[in-house]
Parts: sequence; structure tokens; C-alpha cells
Amino acid sequence: SDTPITFESITESADGLKSILPPGFVPEIGIICGSGLSALQQAVKGPRYEVPYSKIKGFPISTVHGHAGILVFGFIGSSNTPVVLMNGRAHYYEGNTLQSSTFPIRVLSLLGMRTCIITNAAGGLEPAYNVGDIVVINDHINFPGLAGVNPLRGPNLDQFGPRFIALSDAYDLELRRVAHLAWGELSKEMPRKMAMHEGVYAFVGGPNYETRAECRMLSKLGADLVGMSTVPEIIVARHCGVRVLALSLVTNSAVLDPGPRGDDLKLAGVGVNVLHGALDEGKANHEEVLETSRNAAEGIKASCLGLNPFPKDL
Ligand code: HPA
Repeated sequence: SDTPITFESITESADGLKSILPPGFVPEIGIICGSGLSALQQAVKGPRYEVPYSKIKGFPISTVHGHAGILVFGFIGSSNTPVVLMNGRAHYYEGNTLQSSTFPIRVLSLLGMRTCIITNAAGGLEPAYNVGDIVVINDHINFPGLAGVNPLRGPNLDQFGPRFIALSDAYDLELRRVAHLAWGELSKEMPRKMAMHEGVYAFVGGPNYETRAECRMLSKLGADLVGMSTVPEIIVARHCGVRVLALSLVTNSAVLDPGPRGDDLKLAGVGVNVLHGALDEGKANHEEVLETSRNAAEGIKASCLGLNPFPKDL
């Protein structure tokens, strides 16, 4: 996975896909399914063409449970917009470089993707968020990126975009507006009240979930959500000039409580703390993340469908 990504290798993958897709099929929209959100693919109408990542040269394979590894081509919404859905993504913590884990974005941009809807499962830091809520990401903090771990590091791929790119406009205002409008319509019919918020996503390397102190730090620094994906893809999409809508599903609440301390333990005598929550209270785990996202996939699927007729005015 350390072989440098070149324009030639990206072109080769894109040409391989073009040769198996119906002539003239141009997926204008790309959707990336986050953990447990593969049910989003039910929103893709036929005729569908499915291609496993293993058949596409250069595509990184996801090893994470809950990530399938298949591209689904088809049509979405009432205007039958051609779409490609990535069911499964490769993460940095799996050992991929950021360049190789974002390789699919570049391939899809060569296929004609103009807009990308990126979804993820994330931990909620903002106390107003409830598990099951959806957050439209309006900004991010890229922790690895601030230290130089960035998918754009290395020789610039001039064919896609310039060396230095702005990210102050990364989160497309018009797409966010459409998402909120669609949500407003959909939430009228929702059996139980889920909320849609806007917030700042902090990208961390993973794979461990954050400590309590890290959660408090992230929160103090202005993050509303924390997760292990999405930001590298957004950066590369923006380098390719692709418009981005990023949606987080809050699958768990990050633990901000400092936890049992020495003085509590003394007070309690036998190691049962009295002032703070127990150590395993609210502990993040992948099963909870998957369960929450499977339950919420219906709502997210509906909101992807609700995003039409937005393709018309792109
Ligand atoms: N932290 C990081 N990534 C995550 C979390 C979390 O709490 N939940 C889902 N993905």
C-alpha cells in the first residue's frame, strides 16, 4: 500500500471500470456508506451494476466488520440521476496510507462524479446530540493533518487540482441547505423524533476510541463529533473539485466525565466510586456503533432519497 499513487494508476482503474459499465454511464453523484450504513444502497434503483473492490485495480480493501467492499452503480431519486455508491471504505488505521485510502475518490472523479455525499458513524461530543441524531458537518479539525499526515502530501497530482487548496469552503452551503430542507420534509413523517444538527467533526487516527481526557480536549477545542474517517476523503474530493455533503450519524456519546478519581476511591473504601460514573459507563464499542447505525440507516436512506430533486440544480 506504499506504492505512490500516480495519475496513470488512477486512470487505469477508471478505464477498467468504464470498460465494464454501460457506455456513456456517468455517475454524477457518489455516496460513501459509513459503518453499518450499507442499507443506503437500497436507495439505488436499477438497472444496477455491482463491482467488488477486489476486481478494481488499486482499490484498497476494507477489513472492518460492517464494511462490505463493493461499488454499486445505478440511479437515484425522482430524476433518475446516475449514482455510484461505495459500500465500504478503507481507513488509515487499517494500515493504508491516506493516499491509497482516498484512491477511490480520485477514480470516481475521473468517472465523472461531481458531488459526493460522505457518511460516517461518529461519537457525539456536543451534549445536545442524542444517539441516532444526524449531523450535517460544516467544518472539521484534522488532527493528523495538522501534524502533516495528509492525503495530499507528496508530489501534487496537477491533473486533479493545485498544490495548495482552500478548505474554508469545503462544506458546500447549497448542499447543506438542501439537506436541511429535505430533512424538514422527512421529519414530518418520522415515527420517532430524530434531530438534524450542524457541527464540527474532529478526525482522529484511531483505531482505539478516545480516552475521557481526549474527549474533553476535543470538545474544548471546538469539535462536536469525533471519528476515524471522512476528512481525508473530503480533502481529496475538494482537490478534485468535487462538491461535498458530509453527514455523521451519532452512534454513541463520547465520555466527557473524568471518571473515578483517587479521592473518590478512598471515600468509597472498596474501589466503588461515589462522585463520578463507573469506568465502563458509556464505554464506546463497535457493536453499539453498528447497532445504532443499522437502526438509523432507514432514516439516512430516506434523507438521501429526499435529496432529490437536488441533482437537478447542481
Ligand atoms: N470515536 C471515534 N470514532 C467513532 C466513534 C467514537 O466515539 N463512534 C463511531 N466512530
